[in-house]
Amino acid sequence: MSQDDTLTEAPESVHGDTFVEVNYADSIPNNVDLSSDRQLLRALEGWHPNYRNWWNEMGPDGFQASDVYLRTAVGVDPEGWAKFGYVKMPDYRWGILLAPPVAGRTIPAGRHKGEPAWQDVPGEYRSLLRRLIVVQGDTEPASVEQQRFLGATAPSLYDMRNLFQVNVEEGRHLWAMVYLLVKYFGRDGREEAQALLERRSGEQDNPRILGAFNEETPDWLSFFMFTYFTDRDGKMQLAALAESGFDPLSRTCRFMLTEEAHHLFVGETGVGRTVEATCAAMKKAGISNPYDVEAVRALGVVDLPLLQRKANFHISLSRDLFGSEISSNAAEAFSSGLKGRFNEAQLKDDHELQDATYTVTRVINNELVDEEIPALRSINCRLLDDYIADCQGGMDRWNKVIERAGIDFRFTQPHKGFNRRIGEFAGHAISPAGTIISADAWAEQSKDWLQNDSDLVFIRSLMKPCHVQGQYATWIAPPRLGINRQPVDYEYVKIA
Ligand SMILES: [Fe+2]
Ligand SMILES: [Fe+2]
Repeated sequence: MSQDDTLTEAPESVHGDTFVEVNYADSIPNNVDLSSDRQLLRALEGWHPNYRNWWNEMGPDGFQASDVYLRTAVGVDPEGWAKFGYVKMPDYRWGILLAPPVAGRTIPAGRHKGEPAWQDVPGEYRSLLRRLIVVQGDTEPASVEQQRFLGATAPSLYDMRNLFQVNVEEGRHLWAMVYLLVKYFGRDGREEAQALLERRSGEQDNPRILGAFNEETPDWLSFFMFTYFTDRDGKMQLAALAESGFDPLSRTCRFMLTEEAHHLFVGETGVGRTVEATCAAMKKAGISNPYDVEAVRALGVVDLPLLQRKANFHISLSRDLFGSEISSNAAEAFSSGLKGRFNEAQLKDDHELQDATYTVTRVINNELVDEEIPALRSINCRLLDDYIADCQGGMDRWNKVIERAGIDFRFTQPHKGFNRRIGEFAGHAISPAGTIISADAWAEQSKDWLQNDSDLVFIRSLMKPCHVQGQYATWIAPPRLGINRQPVDYEYVKIA
């Protein structure tokens, strides 16, 4: 059954609301009445073949002819927005989906607070707004490129399916940003849309815009850490952009957040199931010391200290994505009303921050000092702090698994300044515990804090495909539940 069979018919009405339903009869599925805007439709139809070429060239390597049990959005309401069925990835119906408009919505923050939300680009902020959309848009295809070789070493069909689901949805997120560029930014928007297909993750001459999106995702532990920690940066950025006074951006990001939740789930449960397999194998072998690394690795599972080092690596890279803690650009994005804070509506302040301050940790005379900085200039620092808090929940759940197994080990987040390349801590060597150390001490000790060469060799040795229906690699426990209430031994990918 191809996806077309399941989706060319209009999905059953959920609300009878034309904004909620997605029109799959158009060449580009959408809930924005695309067919009434000929010029826009033509521009997007012109971009579409280039997108397909990019997908075929840079999307998942192999498996493009396989039937994958994927979800496709058929509406944007929180309940029942997805339809599941077998799809060949190149036939996935990437579409343009915006959350429904909120009647009478006003700009939530900044100097225009309370004014009607913009339905068109505010001229004075045009280039800043375009930059925000381009930077967000650039991360979407970048992660697909980073993950393109993982199918070959998938630890199960279930995991392979989740990888491909994340990949097609990142592709859809690219569509979401391209829609905004093409519809609202005329010729330079079209040029930016094209450039989004031309940059390449990790390529010297034309790299992706942000650092973490040029790193490799060479193995499944990296993928799970990436979807837990780096997709969570995406969640925070989308949440802040969902507070934008530019209403189309807000609506786009609100729907993207519902998809992002699955990516975070893949990361959290991926690491969690790895921890579970490790604890179960240790228990069975009568090993209680988590630092008895050789004995643990001999069981074909990942030792917990390695997972901590891997987490440290991905956490510090992801924190860099928030940019400099103190930033005049971020101040302007907030003051102009283009980007809010995380949970802006729930915050109990004036949402303008003219006189407010915020505590920023800085390095002054080689010491860590907490300073009160104007809140407007500390917007990035605040979003980073919210991110760090948001990271903790899943880590606590991983720790519960370890605790239940009676193993004396806990995952912790390293100090905010650990291994940073951007912002206040860049250029300083700071231990996970938060001590400033010498460059020599860093050179000596960082291999105990970040994934080292022997870790990577060991991880590579585990990355053997497990593509048999219902089977899972030794190093990862099966999930408790399947996708869409299917059994865990369902044929999630029919490998062609
Ligand atoms: Fe995304
Ligand atoms: Fe994502």
